Amino acid sequence: MTSAVAVRLANVSRHFEAGGGLVRAVDGVSLSLPRGAITALIGPSGSGKTTLLSLVGGLLPVTAGVVETDGIDLGTLDQAALTAFRLHHLGIVFQAFHLIDALTVAENVELPLTLAGVRRPDARRRALALVERLGLAARADVLPRVLSGGEKQRTALARALVLDPPVVLADEPTGSLDAAAGEDVITLLQTEATAHGRAVIAASHDPRLLARADRVVAMSFGRVV
Ligand SMILES: Nc1ncnc2c1ncn2[C@@H]1O[C@H](COP(=O)(O)OP(=O)(O)O)[C@@H](O)[C@H]1O
Ligand SMILES: [Mg+2]
Repeated sequence: MTSAVAVRLANVSRHFEAGGGLVRAVDGVSLSLPRGAITALIGPSGSGKTTLLSLVGGLLPVTAGVVETDGIDLGTLDQAALTAFRLHHLGIVFQAFHLIDALTVAENVELPLTLAGVRRPDARRRALALVERLGLAARADVLPRVLSGGEKQRTALARALVLDPPVVLADEPTGSLDAAAGEDVITLLQTEATAHGRAVIAASHDPRLLARADRVVAMSFGRVV
């Protein structure tokens, strides 16, 4: 049976050496985050939100403590295992989308499938089904540069979701979007949490995302307050 806990942090710290000083970006954080829910991570700029998401995603190693994501102790994985872990267990979206400019919408979404060894035409079929579910059917074969901000973020979300990850990390996902597009993306994230049982963890200042989060974790100076 899968546990209701998707992410567990035990006394986690991440420090950086910067300009001769020590920055405690994340400082002794313990947390359990549930599946099937949106957790909003809030706090002022520099409070450690992006660093915390990076630790949960295995994008950065901890200085101390244990991070368990989807039941896996990330400290036990080498680089190759971490890469495979991220591909199969995580979807990540960023404020700046990070789409590949030279690939169409559908090709961007196909990319994780290709990396996971899924061959065309199966990859194409699965990518198109998701593109359609996220309201992008008419945009499948265009390049990202002609998309609106909201369409870009929905494409990034489709790419993040295409391997059906149990955990979705979103760093300021509505930060570059206008109000209506932001609302759409929040609705999609909420559906992914509730209808598909994913743990969605979103660092955000957006009051609409906060209003619809199941749980709010507030950070200040690297600590949960
Ligand atoms: N690679 C790094 N090297 C040095 N300091 C960093 C690095 N990444 C983040 N920091 C510092 O850690 C603190 C937390 O940053 P961050 O996690 O980006 O906060 P937030 O996302 O809440 O704005 C800040 O003081 C930031 O300057
Ligand atoms: Mg940040």
